[in-house]
Amino acid sequence: MYSEKVMDHFTNPRNVGEIEDASGVGTVGNAKCGDIMRIYLDVDDETKVIKDCKFKTFGCGAAVATSSMATELVMGKTIYEALEVTNKAVMEALDGLPPVKVHCSLLAEEAIHAALWDYAKKNNIEIEGLEEPKADIGDE
Ligand code: FES
Repeated sequence: MYSEKVMDHFTNPRNVGEIEDASGVGTVGNAKCGDIMRIYLDVDDETKVIKDCKFKTFGCGAAVATSSMATELVMGKTIYEALEVTNKAVMEALDGLPPVKVHCSLLAEEAIHAALWDYAKKNNIEIEGLEEPKADIGDE
């Protein structure tokens, strides 16, 4: 049912943790399953490149695997290019997810967007194509 890559990222997730004084933090939750995901970004203010990205997920295995893959995909990208890391891109990178688990990958996309929004807000810049995340549930 799960691809090898999903199993790999689930059993050995990359970039788990927190970034102290992160440039941007986004926390999102899915009301239906109750899962929560938080993404931390460390952005180079000059080049706007994401130097580091970490996550914490209180959620299902697919949520862990997608956040792990999402952190790998956004690292090294600029905050503008990071918008390319959609849930579809994350799922493709994981060689697919079962249909009932697609919403888990959406959580990863929303968490990245929420963290980017936080960065943009703090720095008074606009990231074209980025909309205010509705799913951001703040710091609690
Ligand atoms: Fe909720 Fe996967 S079941 S994020």
